[in-house]
Amino acid sequence: MIKAGYSLPALILFSEPLFDSGGTAGPDPDSLVKAVDGKGKNCVVSEKYPQQRLPVNTSKKLYIETFGCQMNVNDSETMVTLLKDLDYETTDSAAKADLILLNTCCIRAKAEQKVYSELGRLKSLKNGGRKVLLGVGGCIAQQEGEKLLKRVPYLDLVFGTHSLHLLPDMVRAAEKGERLTRNDFLDPESRVDLFPRKDTAGGVARFVNVIQGCDNFCSYCIVPYVRGREISRRSSEILQEILELSEAGVKEVTLLGQNVNSYGMKSPEEPSFAELLHMVAAIDGIERIRFTTSHPKDMSQALIDCFAQLPKLCSHIHLPAQSGSDKVLKAMNRGYTRREYLERIAALKKARPDITVTGDMIVGFPGETEEDYNETRSLMEEVGYADLFSFVFSARPETAAAKLHDDLTRKEKQERLDRLQKRQHIMTRERNNALQGTIQEVLVEGVSRRGDQLFGRTSGNRIVNITADHSLIGKIVTVRIAEAFQNSLLGELV
Ligand code: SAH
Ligand code: SF4
Ligand code: F3S
Repeated sequence: MIKAGYSLPALILFSEPLFDSGGTAGPDPDSLVKAVDGKGKNCVVSEKYPQQRLPVNTSKKLYIETFGCQMNVNDSETMVTLLKDLDYETTDSAAKADLILLNTCCIRAKAEQKVYSELGRLKSLKNGGRKVLLGVGGCIAQQEGEKLLKRVPYLDLVFGTHSLHLLPDMVRAAEKGERLTRNDFLDPESRVDLFPRKDTAGGVARFVNVIQGCDNFCSYCIVPYVRGREISRRSSEILQEILELSEAGVKEVTLLGQNVNSYGMKSPEEPSFAELLHMVAAIDGIERIRFTTSHPKDMSQALIDCFAQLPKLCSHIHLPAQSGSDKVLKAMNRGYTRREYLERIAALKKARPDITVTGDMIVGFPGETEEDYNETRSLMEEVGYADLFSFVFSARPETAAAKLHDDLTRKEKQERLDRLQKRQHIMTRERNNALQGTIQEVLVEGVSRRGDQLFGRTSGNRIVNITADHSLIGKIVTVRIAEAFQNSLLGELV
């Protein structure tokens, strides 16, 4: 007798008998037929009891590799959610996957090359005899579209940053043998209705997308060309998602976007970013709030004041300067001066004296002299970054800076970067060392990579490993920092 909810064996292939007819237990094999439910999901129906539509675990495996920034991490989570409806579940092995998706980044030439070499590596899996679908999403897909499908003959689908919602239909078509591309940009009205929702289940600390795209057109940056115009998500939807996350046990949210500070600026009906933070802070169960990334030019005093007013707001700000030289900042079209940047940092430190500051820096921008570079170096010292992500300028297609005369050699640029990173390495270690012996609140997020410890983060976003019972996952614990390393801290429960 079939009961609803009967757990069917995994890996049912519909071309095969559904059950081994030699078995003694289980339903009569002839009584089940393949069907599709209202959502287009595979199911089986009992001929004897046609009302009973039983979900089947077809165990189609999805492998997603994510390149680039947190926007892509967030989009990959959405892809997993969307493809659940097509009975895909994730696997951590590309070799076992039925569908492989690369969520790609083209922020620098190197990031792009990484994706192409991964595509080359995956060719053998496609030619391995087993049917595997291969798709490319994200920023390279948006930029290249059809060209990518032509260039990589074994690719099945290409879907751009504005086409995430089309993914299930595209995968269905690819399953039937079609090769297809979608990389149109959506207009803002359609887009605001398509801010993707994710599964609320799982995790202690989660990202919540509040704004997409970017209007800043920093002269070096490809993001506005691959993510489109800036658009704020409705605050009602953001708050609803956070409420649901908190009900599912999430303790920390990071509000996410290319430039979260300009949230609501183009939508008079929406609150400002500072107001949004106050609303999020009012949600019970959410104990910590972070946001990234911030743009110095849009860092309002009201937002800075949030660090004094909202205890739930963590003591960390990622505020990329990109350069310490006014001449270079102007050529980058960043919209602030070195002095203005330092004023924002001073105001932040005043509002939250223990705030940890991290940032991004580009060296070797066209026309950067040794003097300009030294201004970047002195800015680093003045700010005292806990961590700094630094890059050699990479000319990107379509961007204004790609057309600038650039007389620095690759070697000179690399040498400037090496010197800067060497110094930052020391500063990061000194900052970590200074935390030794201090008492910190740590939100325990999970089991550390080594497997024998738990890990979490301080309010200032430093990783702390702790030897403690698994029941503490999801809790904020008080620890004494026993030892400092380059990239993490060792904590002891107090
Ligand atoms: N929206 C964020 C960051 C986006 S990209 C912001 O505005 O800060 C992440 C970082 O990559 C940038 O902060 C910048 O430091 C770096 N980056 C972007 N384009 C680059 C390029 N063409 N060459 C080198 N680094 C680049
Ligand atoms: Fe790129 Fe500038 Fe926009 Fe950041 S603010 S995404 S660096 S254009
Ligand atoms: Fe890369 Fe696209 Fe993010 S280019 S940095 S993945 S917005």
